[in-house]
Amino acid sequence: MANLYAQEASGDPAASASPERVVHRLRGSNESTTHIFALVEGTQPLGEVSPLGVPYIPSTGECPDYDYAGFIHISVPLLEEKDTADLDFVLDVNFLPLPGQPLDDDAQHVATTLVNHGLDLAQKMGRSTLQASSLHADGTPADADPFSAAYRAAGFNIKHAERQVKVHVPEYPATVLIPAGFSAHAWLDYDIPEDFLDDVIRLLTIASEDSLTGDLSVEPIQWNRTRLAEAHGRLRSRNAHTLMVALVDDSRQTVVALTELGRHAGSDPEVAEWTVTVTAREWRQQQLATRIKLFALTKLREHWPDVQRAYASIGVDDTAMNHIFDGLGATGISQSEAWELKA
Ligand SMILES: CC(C)(COP(=O)(O)OP(=O)(O)OC[C@H]1O[C@@H](n2cnc3c(N)ncnc32)[C@H](O)[C@@H]1OP(=O)(O)O)[C@@H](O)C(=O)NCCC(=O)NCCS
Repeated sequence: MANLYAQEASGDPAASASPERVVHRLRGSNESTTHIFALVEGTQPLGEVSPLGVPYIPSTGECPDYDYAGFIHISVPLLEEKDTADLDFVLDVNFLPLPGQPLDDDAQHVATTLVNHGLDLAQKMGRSTLQASSLHADGTPADADPFSAAYRAAGFNIKHAERQVKVHVPEYPATVLIPAGFSAHAWLDYDIPEDFLDDVIRLLTIASEDSLTGDLSVEPIQWNRTRLAEAHGRLRSRNAHTLMVALVDDSRQTVVALTELGRHAGSDPEVAEWTVTVTAREWRQQQLATRIKLFALTKLREHWPDVQRAYASIGVDDTAMNHIFDGLGATGISQSEAWELKA
C-alpha cells in the first residue's frame, strides 16, 4: 500500500521498497527498532496483548484475515536521538484517493485515527520528539499528501523539505578531468583500504553534521570503525551493495571528497540510490563534489552495468546539491516534507 502511494505520487514504479527491505527493517538492529501496528475495521482482534496495550497479530504462519484500514510504522533510534520516534502512516488502498483527489470523509477519519494512535504509541515508547513525513508529486503542495491535514490538526509543523530526483546513467559517461595531484578511487561494499578508513569515517561524520536538515531536531551520526563494520554486516545480511567513490589528495594521501551509491536486494536492478556526498570542509567550493559525482557515473557503469537510473533526495534549500544534480541532468519526481511535534 505504501508502495502504491509512493508510485502514484512520483509517477515512477521504482519508487517503492521491496518486501525484503521492509522485513529487514522490522528485524531491527543495534541502531534502531521498528514496530508495525494495524488499524483494523470491525471486531477487535483477540490474542496476547503487547506491553503497549494492543493485541499481537501473527505476521507469519497462519495470518488472520482482518479488514485493515491502515498501518502505522514506528522506528525508534537507539544510539542518537533517544527522544525521537519516526512515524510512517499507510492508508489501505480502499481509502487511498486517486492521484490529485482529496480524501473523502471516511478516509480522513482513518488518517486522523492512525496519526492519533501513532502519537499515543510513540509516547508510550517513551519518545517525545515525534517526526513524520509527507510525499507528493513534484510541483504540488504538501497538502497533496493524504496525511498532511491530520498532521497539522495533531500539532505537527513542517521543519524540512526535500525533492526527489532521478539521474539517467549514460551508457558512455563523459570523461571527467581529475585535477592534477588528485586520484579517484572506487570501493565496493566498504572494501576501503586501511590507509583511507579513518578519512572515510571522518567524512561520513562531517556529512551527517553539515547536511542541511532545516529546523528538524537531529543529532549527527558519530561514525567509528565498529559502527562502519556493523553497517557492513547489515549490508551483507540483506544482500545489499554500496559503491563508494573517493577523491584523494595524492601528496597527503587523504580523502578530500566522497560520494556513495547503494543497491538493495529485491529492488529494481536498474535502479541505484545516491545516498551521501561530502567534501572535506577545507576543500569546499572547488568543484570537487561536482567532479566526484560525475566520476561516480563512470564507476557505476563499470561496476553495476545494469543500473540505468540513480535516485536521490536533496534538501530544497541545498544550493550546492541542487546545482550539482542540475548539472547531471536530474529531473524532479516528487517532493517530501519532514514534520515534527514535541509532545
Ligand atoms: C554539498 C557539498 C558536498 C558540496 O561540495 P563542494 O565540493 O563544495 O561542491 P562544488 O564545489 O562542486 O560546488 C557545486 C556548486 O555548488 C555551489 N556551492 C557549493 N557550496 C555552496 C554553498 N555553501 N552555497 C552556495 N553555493 C554553493 C558551487 O559554487 C558550485 O557552483 P558552480 O558549479 O556554479 O561553481 C559540501 O558542501 C558538503 O560536504 N556539505 C556537507 C554534506 C552534505 O550536505 N551533503 C549533501 C547531502 S548528502
